[in-house]
This record gives sequence, C-alpha cells and structure tokens, in this order.
Amino acid sequence: MSTRREFLKTLAATFLSTVGAPILLEGCAGGLVNYHTQVKGGVLIVPKREAISLNEPNGLLVLHAPGLNGPIVLRNVEKKETVALSIICTHRGCEVRPMPRSFKCPCHGSEYDIHGNVIAGPARLALKRFPVEETPEALIIKVS
Ligand code: FES
Repeated sequence: MSTRREFLKTLAATFLSTVGAPILLEGCAGGLVNYHTQVKGGVLIVPKREAISLNEPNGLLVLHAPGLNGPIVLRNVEKKETVALSIICTHRGCEVRPMPRSFKCPCHGSEYDIHGNVIAGPARLALKRFPVEETPEALIIKVS
C-alpha cells in the first residue's frame, strides 16, 4: 500500500516527464533555468508560465529536447525580443557558457554577443539562431 507521500512523488514525476521539467540552476549569467521538452511538428512550445526566468535581468531559459543538436538558450534582449540560440560553438562544437552580455566558449575562447554574432575567435560563424514566435500563452521556437 502506498503512502500519500509516495503518491505525490509519482504524480510529480509523471507531471515533469510529460509537460517539461524546469530546473533552477545557478549560472554565470544570473537566473538560468533548464526546461526539458519535446520537438513536435518542428517546434518547441514553451508555456509562458515556464519562462518567467526571462523576465529577470540576465534571465535565461535553456531548452533540452531529444533530437536537437544540443541545448537552445532563450534570452530576452532588453525586454524587446526573445532570442533563441544554439549553445553549440561553431568552432569545434563545445557548449558555450552564457555570460551577462555574451556567450563564451570554454574550449578555445570564442565569444559571441547576445544575438550570437562572433565577438572574438577562433570561431568565425555566428551561433545558430532559431525563429521565435510569441503568443499570449507561449513561446514557439521553430527548430526545423
Ligand atoms: Fe568553441 Fe573552439 S570549440 S572556441
């Protein structure tokens, strides 16, 4: 016979595995939250209630989904637009680290601005950017 606590644990695990799992982590760039979801119809859908970290100064949301080439980071730029970038460095494929006003690669030192453009090499190509559509309820990131 299961206890109430076991029941709630199972319920929470089921919820997190089906609708996404935001996990608050400390990061170089302030509030950094990971969100696990799935690609459906070539898009990632992030409910706005799961993206509240984007309202904070330097807040970020890192999206993980099976089938992606790597995580995608969402960043709200000056409260005007949400930018979605691959965090895979275009030099040799390391994961870049979000900084307050840029992204830095720990492998060979490349740096990108908040739009993913190269500030410092050896990388020569910008981070891959994904279109973001915003509805009243969600952010929709087109990934294919
Ligand atoms: Fe990023 Fe080399 S892999 S700078």
